[in-house]
Amino acid sequence: KPTLLPLCGIDDVLEGCALKVEEGDHAYAVYNVAGAYFVTDDMCTHGPGSLGEGELYGDIIECNFHGGQFNIRTGEVAGPPCMEPVKTYTVRVEDGGIFIEV
Ligand code: FES
Repeated sequence: KPTLLPLCGIDDVLEGCALKVEEGDHAYAVYNVAGAYFVTDDMCTHGPGSLGEGELYGDIIECNFHGGQFNIRTGEVAGPPCMEPVKTYTVRVEDGGIFIEV
């Protein structure tokens, strides 16, 4: 059975926005797409960009460093210069909180 790691409350992530959340020594990016929540690693696979501090366009996150893009549902690259997909997590929403399975 997977462990649930709490990241933030559902009210912490505005609709259409991303949020960077640090837990221990790892950073995650939490996204709200019309009330559905998704989580990826925060660090861009291309360099030092923070996806949680990027711009969300629908289900595409644009990195704040070189403008590379990922699909937040699948982690697949959606725009250059990124080459490697970003890790995604299974999200659970319980009691007003956002959790990931780890
Ligand atoms: Fe994200 Fe380069 S660091 S696109």
